[in-house]
Amino acid sequence: MCGIIGITAGAAVAGGEPPGGTTPGVLPTLLEGLARLEYRGYDSAGLALTGPGGLWRARAADGTRSLEDLAKRAEHGPDGAVAGIGHTRWATHGRPTEGNAHPHVDCSGRLALVHNGIIENHVELADALLADGHRFTSETDTEVLAHLIETELAGHPDGGLVGAVRAALGRVRGAFALAAVHADDPEVVVAARRVSPLLLGVTDGAAFLASDIPAILGLTHDFFVLDDDQVAELRPGSVSVVSLADGSPVEPVPLHVEWDLDAARKDGYDDFMSKEMHEQPKAVADTLLDRLLPDGTLVLDEVRITNAEFRAVTKVFVVACGSSYHAGLMAKYAIEQWARLPVEIDIASEFRYRQPVLDGQTLVIGVSQSGETVDTFQAVREADRLGAKVLVITNVVDSSMARESDAVLYTRAGPEIGVAATKTHLAQITALEVLALYLAQARGTLSVAAARGLLAAMGRLPAKVEAVLARADEVAEVAGACRDSPSFIFLGRHVGYPVALEGALKLKELSYLRAEGFPAGELKHGPIALVEPGTVVVAVATRTPVWEKLVANVAEVKSRGATVVLVVEEDDQETAGLADHVLWVPATEHLFSPVVDVVPLQLFAYSLARLHGLDVDRPRNLAKVVTVE
Ligand code: G6P
Repeated sequence: MCGIIGITAGAAVAGGEPPGGTTPGVLPTLLEGLARLEYRGYDSAGLALTGPGGLWRARAADGTRSLEDLAKRAEHGPDGAVAGIGHTRWATHGRPTEGNAHPHVDCSGRLALVHNGIIENHVELADALLADGHRFTSETDTEVLAHLIETELAGHPDGGLVGAVRAALGRVRGAFALAAVHADDPEVVVAARRVSPLLLGVTDGAAFLASDIPAILGLTHDFFVLDDDQVAELRPGSVSVVSLADGSPVEPVPLHVEWDLDAARKDGYDDFMSKEMHEQPKAVADTLLDRLLPDGTLVLDEVRITNAEFRAVTKVFVVACGSSYHAGLMAKYAIEQWARLPVEIDIASEFRYRQPVLDGQTLVIGVSQSGETVDTFQAVREADRLGAKVLVITNVVDSSMARESDAVLYTRAGPEIGVAATKTHLAQITALEVLALYLAQARGTLSVAAARGLLAAMGRLPAKVEAVLARADEVAEVAGACRDSPSFIFLGRHVGYPVALEGALKLKELSYLRAEGFPAGELKHGPIALVEPGTVVVAVATRTPVWEKLVANVAEVKSRGATVVLVVEEDDQETAGLADHVLWVPATEHLFSPVVDVVPLQLFAYSLARLHGLDVDRPRNLAKVVTVE
């Protein structure tokens, strides 16, 4: 949640003579980085610059237009900034107003700070600071940090900003990724991290920090990952890291990222969601790439679990949130069928607090696009603490979850900017099914030949996804026919059920329309009461083993006046005959079918949101990376 960025580029930039012409300007770097971080929250945005004129701050809180406003205000900013920090906010404590927007400053107005995370003991800290005479100007938890650092700096000026940040954080409970600048030492940016992600980058004349890779991707491909309880000092061309606890020097973990800057741009599409939906065939193909050795053995990306330990697994839990949770539900069928293991799928925020029964023979699979979602991260940490083996499926190399797990399978979807997951979701289903084959192979429940055959069948998925995308205009027409309906019900059975859940989630998050997904067989136990003329019922009616029962459920809603939209396999005229509108998909082996069948539902939600004039990349109240509980 919230995105932070920082840069120090030193006097060379201030003087307008960047060495070698490569050192970026402070203000353009902050504004461009914030634009690429906006998917983390867009309630408000702000930045602070340091330079010869001291500290200058600008903030704007106009929802999705905050950044535009901020850029306008920055036009009147100071000349010669040598360093700066920026923030894009997803409000937790305090309304999304300009006064609550980051950066926050101390009483002197010479220290500014941006923060992602939550300071849990902020009320008691604020009480003590108020008693000491500090003045607060916002309703945020973050502001206590600025005043705490101010106090520590006044008490122990010899420790500099790093020493003051360390001392202040020693009094704090909660999660943070923060960056601070001070007018007294304008070339220095200090950063610290606990739980919330933070990356550092260094070039010849500059140093950077950001919550996420895309923000500083154009500046370098070589990063350092700041770990929990570490504090970094950035100066032009250098970074040094120390332990928060005792100040001892730490060697930061290097991370090389191959992603192209183009991947973080729209490339001629109207929006990121559209671009990312069209990248889905590649995301699926790349996730499948090089998974099979010549001897038929399947390959994960990082494995610190032995074959014997995999063989000994007796139970699988999948923990995840949002679309990642749905990917887990979709893959349950494959893991159970191929690996013959019981699989429980859990909402990560529930799993952690319900004393799950785990031991060394339990495999806990954490699924997270970002690898940073705090609910999922803390759930897999809890699983690890209870002795389970933890395997993570994530799109971000070396993300927090990847680093703390026993094994990793990467979805190779590239950066996803649109808040609603699309290409990473398809890549997750693909990765989970590869994992199902891997488990089956390790346990001997599937022959090498059978696994090879199934993997080959998965190799045909990208072309099928492509075929659905080619029908985007037809889906848009169906969406047009449904645009005035206030209420949507999504139905599916077997693997079609989680597809229905994902279709409903996409529609509600993008178009703000009432949309609920149900297992079709459960309809008669309650949800059918919602059906009336005007209700749109979207059902996944591809030929799963329970197709006949599904179409019977469809007849039940049709006879009650619903408008019926069916996802139907090409050439299946019999099923199409039951529908008012058809979303055609190529026929796919049923365990893999979610990868294909969810695509028309993404397109349907996308089209309806556009018809209602909504911003598909930045749905209201949502953020892409949720690093608060
Ligand atoms: C947010 C996003 C969703 C995403 C969920 C889980 O709610 O808006 O699109 O599915 O987080 O994120 P993760 O990074 O853990 O997959």
